[in-house]
Amino acid sequence: MHIDELERYWLIAVSVTLGVFTAALLASVFIFGVRLPSPVGRIDPTNLENTEFAEPGLRDMGDGQYTAHIVAQMWNFMPREIRVPVGSEVLFNVTSRDITHGFFIEAHNANLMLLPGQIAQVRVTFDRPGEFHIICHEYCGPGHQNMFGVIIVEDPATAGITE
Ligand code: CUA
Repeated sequence: MHIDELERYWLIAVSVTLGVFTAALLASVFIFGVRLPSPVGRIDPTNLENTEFAEPGLRDMGDGQYTAHIVAQMWNFMPREIRVPVGSEVLFNVTSRDITHGFFIEAHNANLMLLPGQIAQVRVTFDRPGEFHIICHEYCGPGHQNMFGVIIVEDPATAGITE
């Protein structure tokens, strides 16, 4: 079979490119452990009162570990504000009461899509003090741009917290 020289070069270039992409994909999964975020549970969004989301908020699990349950709804997060001491590791369980919302924590590696009926989860370590916004980054209606919360990471030395 005759293949034009230029066409052969392009075939080689495309094959090498696909090979590199495939290798990068396999390396991200098997070497770096990258996984797609997936829901950790399912829930009836019309019946949150009878679930673990009945009383959203922060729970101290001891040893610098916290669990936070957060409900997103048009157009706020419940609770709107969370305070943790610096160095805390927080496991966020988040769900939506109504429609699709987003959950992005400023300056941290947390970015979830919230779908009614699904529980999304992310674990975040807060290793420097400051105020970090929780931002809804999925367009969710006319109040979308006002939908945010805040995480206040307190330095015990300045916040007057004593152990
Ligand atoms: Cu909720 Cu945008």
